[in-house]
Amino acid sequence: MVDTVKIAGIELDNPVILAPMAGVCNPAFRILAKELGAGMVCAEMVSDKALVNGSKKSERMLTILPDEHPVSLQLVGYDKESMVKAAEMVGETNADIIDINMGCPVLKIYKNGSGAALARNPEYAAQIVRAVVERVNKPVTVKFRKGWDDDSVNAVEVALAVEEAGAQAVTVHGRTAAQLYSGKADWSIIREVKEAVRIPVVGNGDVVEPEDAKRMMELTGCDAVMVGRGALGNPWVFREIAYYLKTGEKLPRPDALERIQVAVRHLNLLVQEKGEVIGVREMRKHAAWYIKGLHNATAFRDEINKETTLAGMQELLYSFLEHQRLAG
Ligand SMILES: Cc1cc2nc3c(=O)[nH]c(=O)nc-3n(C[C@H](O)[C@H](O)[C@H](O)COP(=O)(O)O)c2cc1C
Repeated sequence: MVDTVKIAGIELDNPVILAPMAGVCNPAFRILAKELGAGMVCAEMVSDKALVNGSKKSERMLTILPDEHPVSLQLVGYDKESMVKAAEMVGETNADIIDINMGCPVLKIYKNGSGAALARNPEYAAQIVRAVVERVNKPVTVKFRKGWDDDSVNAVEVALAVEEAGAQAVTVHGRTAAQLYSGKADWSIIREVKEAVRIPVVGNGDVVEPEDAKRMMELTGCDAVMVGRGALGNPWVFREIAYYLKTGEKLPRPDALERIQVAVRHLNLLVQEKGEVIGVREMRKHAAWYIKGLHNATAFRDEINKETTLAGMQELLYSFLEHQRLAG
């Protein structure tokens, strides 16, 4: 039986965390994940340089709404001084945790030494953590992968280095950077990290079903699980996993009505946050994820991708629901 858990000194109601996902984990989605049971939510990565250079867009990415807590804001960068300055800016926000991205495998990010490239040099990675910990009065955590590639698996080394530098928790994604998202996540590396460090370890990679979460916790001993892709168009996954970990029983899946109602709420939150033009555009991918697997979803996706107004998107989603009722 799993009850509350502490990550980086922050008490969570349950050990199920929304993963940071660029282009997805803005306040709208984080609020939904929280309402639907996440024990903690992570924001999409923010570039240190963009923040320090005064990018308004990046500054807006530091916005946290009252209903989201606990929430972790993630920085991505490589230059120690600029990471510290950006972390000081995060320090001024109401974020509960500052996370440092050492796992992003995208060329645009790693080519200048950020993301997964940082973890290739645990000593320097630790220097960044130490500098941030010394200057900012919030718990610091680090997220990284198994290693750069199969020939340079170093997650345990990275974990020990950042722990020693003052990180208060680590998240381990059981894939190498070279793997991107292919193959299966190797959960044994999460266990190795858990056995090596004293700080809490969050396990990540391929948790989709409640049973996956339970198995990951049993196999690795991790303190919490982090869910990324499994939450896309599926924020119910948090309450389902949390309930299963607590009771051993499975909640029923949301029906078409609940799926569409939550999709419309997501749309409304996005439009409130970003305005109609951007909100509706961003909702297109989410809407496609929400309706995946329902009757005639492919044809509706084409309609969704043409929609430009809030009223039109709402109407389209409700007409899709009506279509389910008639088809069912
Ligand atoms: C669309 C997308 C965006 C992502 N953006 C970030 C990010 O900003 N920061 C980060 O640390 N990881 C990011 N990730 C990686 C996820 O946090 C997570 O580690 C990965 O998806 C594995 O977990 P999963 O199998 O549950 O999806 C992203 C993943 C996806 C699919």
